[in-house]
Amino acid sequence: KKIGILGVPFDKGQLKQGVGSGPQAFRDAGLIRELKEICADVKDFGDITYKQLEGLQVDNMTALGHVAACQKQVSENVFKILKEDRLCLTIGGDHSCGIGTVDGHVKAKGDVAVLWVDAHADLNTNATSPTGNVHGMPVALLAKELSDYWPYIPGMDWQQPMLSIKNIAYIGLRDIDSYERLVIDKFAITAFGMEDIERYGIIEVTNMALRRINPNNNLPLHVSFDIDSLDTLEAPSTGTPVRGGLTLREGIQIMEEAYRTQHLSAVDIVEVNPNLGTPTEVKITLEAGLHIIKAACGLSRRGQWPKDVNDL
Ligand code: ARG
Ligand code: MN
Ligand code: MN
Repeated sequence: KKIGILGVPFDKGQLKQGVGSGPQAFRDAGLIRELKEICADVKDFGDITYKQLEGLQVDNMTALGHVAACQKQVSENVFKILKEDRLCLTIGGDHSCGIGTVDGHVKAKGDVAVLWVDAHADLNTNATSPTGNVHGMPVALLAKELSDYWPYIPGMDWQQPMLSIKNIAYIGLRDIDSYERLVIDKFAITAFGMEDIERYGIIEVTNMALRRINPNNNLPLHVSFDIDSLDTLEAPSTGTPVRGGLTLREGIQIMEEAYRTQHLSAVDIVEVNPNLGTPTEVKITLEAGLHIIKAACGLSRRGQWPKDVNDL
């Protein structure tokens, strides 16, 4: 499968400087070179640029003029990459870019199934958010069933909630706000927290999630991978770390299962902040991200035969 890479150097969905240099840090860490070892056709679409919209204001939604303008560009670029029949790999930036990536995916392919791998549910509306940070709101903006809970949002007319709640599943949850818990229960959203991973193991959890959101395995699959789903020891350089998370092995396993469906169509890797932590911690976090990305691109831990060998 061909690969397209999109950088989203965006940090206005939360308050910490640095997460916007995620794409550059991954490139400097050898992202393109390593992917070219797995896949013969890797195309880098560069980083998103946008012009901020002035004067947009909605209660308890920080930097809306930036989010709205940037995410429109993200959506259009994801659309374009998918239309070239590539796996679309989006490198954040904060998790507000899930708004644009899923929007572009649905516009390119129709209904999709989404695995949201995260310590957090990112399911707040502006009315329930304890912070006003839009990186805690993308799933609520995407979900059809929650559209009535939002006011009119200027600058976001290009985005309609097009994702059905039955096509979304969470893996890795362990820091859920009270209204997010209420919504998950009320709408019976498929949500596997850390305790489920303890009980069933990551392979079983991932496959239960995939069966729920994509029972006939006929929908394109989107994995939105927040690096803070991983344990703080595995991925320390992130803005809202929560201890007690996934091991890197579990993260890789999720992506290997996703790849095995043969329908993996878009992957986001978000919330790596190279400004946080020591140089060693930044390196560990980037390496973890690269392992996750490579698993999504089909790298097998079993190893592969040389490319020019067919038979022995
Ligand atoms: N639930 C908190 C909030 O709404 C934290 C969200 C963290 N999101 C993230 N993408 N890391 O602000
Ligand atoms: Mn998170
Ligand atoms: Mn997130």
